[in-house]
Amino acid sequence: MCGIVGYVGSREAAPILLNGLNRLEYRGYDSAGVVVQNGVGLITRKVVGRVSGLESLLSEEPACGTSGIGHTRWATHGAPTQVNAHPHTDCTGRLALVHNGIIENADVLRTHLENKGHVFRTETDTEVIVHLIEDTKADTLEERVAAALGLVVGAYAIAVMSADEPGRIVVARRGSPVLIGVGEAEYFIGSDPSAVVDYTRQVVYLDDGDIAVLTADGMHVVDHDARVQVRSVDRIDWSIEAIERGNHAHFMHKEIHEQPESARNTMRGRLGEDGNVRLDGLKLTPEQCRRFRRVLILGCGTSWHAGLIGRQVIERLTGLPVQVEYASEYRYQHQLDASDTLAVAISQSGETADTLEAMRAARAAGAHVVGIVNVVGSTIARDADGGIYLHVGPEVGVASTKAFTSQIIALLMLGVYLGRHRDLAEEEAAALLCELDTLPSLIRRTLRLEPQVEAIAASFAEAPNALYLGRGVNFPVALEGALKLKEISYIHAEGLPAAEMKHGPIALIDENMPVVFVAPSDEVYEKVVSNIQEVKARGGRILVIGTEGNGDLRAIVDHQLNVPRTSPMLSPLLTVIPLQLLAYHIAVLRGCDVDRPRNLAKSVTVE
Ligand code: M6R
Repeated sequence: MCGIVGYVGSREAAPILLNGLNRLEYRGYDSAGVVVQNGVGLITRKVVGRVSGLESLLSEEPACGTSGIGHTRWATHGAPTQVNAHPHTDCTGRLALVHNGIIENADVLRTHLENKGHVFRTETDTEVIVHLIEDTKADTLEERVAAALGLVVGAYAIAVMSADEPGRIVVARRGSPVLIGVGEAEYFIGSDPSAVVDYTRQVVYLDDGDIAVLTADGMHVVDHDARVQVRSVDRIDWSIEAIERGNHAHFMHKEIHEQPESARNTMRGRLGEDGNVRLDGLKLTPEQCRRFRRVLILGCGTSWHAGLIGRQVIERLTGLPVQVEYASEYRYQHQLDASDTLAVAISQSGETADTLEAMRAARAAGAHVVGIVNVVGSTIARDADGGIYLHVGPEVGVASTKAFTSQIIALLMLGVYLGRHRDLAEEEAAALLCELDTLPSLIRRTLRLEPQVEAIAASFAEAPNALYLGRGVNFPVALEGALKLKEISYIHAEGLPAAEMKHGPIALIDENMPVVFVAPSDEVYEKVVSNIQEVKARGGRILVIGTEGNGDLRAIVDHQLNVPRTSPMLSPLLTVIPLQLLAYHIAVLRGCDVDRPRNLAKSVTVE
């Protein structure tokens, strides 16, 4: 959570910091702040709320100087107040620091420092780091940072400046992401590439334990014992347009409509005509593929929903039992021996703390770990033994959309890949891949339902609750539809297996309860129709997501939207589209901030 930025060079720092913070605002928007070094001292500006507020403040009270650091906050320790907003300073006001992460031993350190006379002004865990640096005796800022971080337990990406060392920024990471953008006699700091891409495409991803020292003249990286570390310079491979809204009112809308293209990008160069898929990044030998006896899928939120679909698909294609776990639960479970297991960590951001720790726990239990990740160079991608990149470009809207459909595609390809090294017949695999290849155009057709979805949204927008029901491979789609609705419209929604409704939730049904059935043409369609009748009999307001040419339920339901016909295994890739659009339009009608829903942030890098 939180975004950190920084700049050192010869330009005015504040506009560059603001631009980076705007790009990172999806990571948290409880408060924003910058500190700029003007050669004499440090000038700090902070506001509660959005980066736009900070922009206004800086236009009234400029902060001039050619190096600085900034922060956009998702509050963990301490309320979202101005005093708790980063940057934080030490007792003298000559050291300033921004932090993304959580310091687990903050209370102990705080008591220790207070006993030594340090005066704390905030409720944050972060403030202990800057007082620790102040308290440390060493020659250079980086030595003091290294010594202070040696006492810290927890996750951090920090950037630190000292009024006594003008034009110098020290950056360090352990467990939270941060990268350095490399320019011509200037350097940029960002929690992810979007913070620096307006200025440079050359980036250095720091590793855990790295301490980077930046001045306009150069940068170097050392470890905690001051040993020099060599880090490669990578290139950002997407364009600035990918992080612009274009003609769309919201990033979520843009990203929903990008799905024909993003789905294509996930498949590109990977589907063979012979029923094989090319997934070199997995780095799995045929022998390994044959040796696995189990698959374990780990993820959170939408990525976990994709995993639930993946379970059904991979079991069918490989015959291997697949277990899907919330990463946050798995990491604290008693670990069974996993030496025969392929663990698959799914994460759009590649930075979700629970998923990262769960995959490490799976590895410790003996599993071979691969990632299905979107963000190139992210921690999960680098920590995994191999993986599949989604290649959907940056997903900026907090509600995940295009990553979800591509995660399903990646899981399908993984299933075929493993299956072909086992018993999956060439014809069966080839037929599935051939159909998968047509998906982008079917998604495009499904998106044409938008005007109808918008009209339905108007009739559901005032409801306080909603139920989403589905079966089989479309039960996770019901979960996903409900999650989309609650996170951006604040309507309470539940996703359930359709048949479970009669075991309790049916008591909720009355004429005010919208019920969305995901009921494409498949082997359980008739069963779902029976569930629809049960809701109808109790007066619920029903929307059905069905299949073109598969019977018209309009005589018994209030609304029906039909997606193109495809094989049942692929149907979630289409049935989820109207649900994404429904949540989007309901949220817009309710006046919600679609791209920045309250209390949320795009990547959850804390437990
Ligand atoms: O980046 P990840 O895929 O690991 O993120 C997991 C969840 O935090 C994420 O899917 C979250 O549930 C989204 N807000 C859902 O739209």
